[in-house]
Amino acid sequence: MASYSEEDMKEAQREFSLLIEKGLDNDTVIKRFDLISDKYDMVLGVMEYKLPKWVGDNLASLYPGNKERVNILDVAAGTGLVSVEMRKHGFTHIDGLDPSEGMLAQAKKNNLYDRYICDILADNTLDIADNTYTVVTVVGFSSEFFKILPVKALEELVRVTKSGGRILMSHFEYIFESEVLRDNLSNLQDRGLWKLEDKKIMAETVKGINGHLYIYKVMTK
Ligand SMILES: C[S@@+](CC[C@H](N)C(=O)[O-])C[C@H]1O[C@@H](n2cnc3c(N)ncnc32)[C@H](O)[C@@H]1O
Repeated sequence: MASYSEEDMKEAQREFSLLIEKGLDNDTVIKRFDLISDKYDMVLGVMEYKLPKWVGDNLASLYPGNKERVNILDVAAGTGLVSVEMRKHGFTHIDGLDPSEGMLAQAKKNNLYDRYICDILADNTLDIADNTYTVVTVVGFSSEFFKILPVKALEELVRVTKSGGRILMSHFEYIFESEVLRDNLSNLQDRGLWKLEDKKIMAETVKGINGHLYIYKVMTK
């Protein structure tokens, strides 16, 4: 495990609280990610952030063979920590979507995605064809906005995923307590667009905070 100086640890705590601050609008959050992009991996390393590895391990269990046939879209890709973990398991076809140019620039340095899509997931239509991906991952999406992610955003995830494909969403436990998010996730299940296949809990996915992983299966379209 990497070792960090006392100064790094203090800075990481400070930066991390700025990223998860409550009440910020999406534009402000994206600007904060731009500013912190060159320090992001250090900050999350200090905070012992484990969601990307957890998601990578779960994906490998879901797709034990033929990984080269699994096309993946990583939403809120950031600097590509999730891609790093998926690649360790042999997944190679991965596109990344994120609105922060700074975060995507870090991912580009390490050649972590095939396609870099600089866009938000919100109530817009993404520049991605229907049924493109076998898997969509959404890991650590900006907290305040994920809590109120609109139905249209979830429909977009389903639209770009193939029938029978999977959407893996992982975040901190308290984020999934959001009533708006829960209602919107259920909305798609009630309409037969997806089905919750599994829900997992992991202790301490970042210092002092538990994490959840929701695995949705996209229904036949
Ligand atoms: C905490 S980082 C997570 C990055 C990566 N998934 C990880 O686990 O390390 C949150 C990312 O969400 C992105 N983001 C913020 N608003 C977004 C939106 N509306 N749609 C997609 N991504 C967004 C930010 O730019 C940032 O890169």
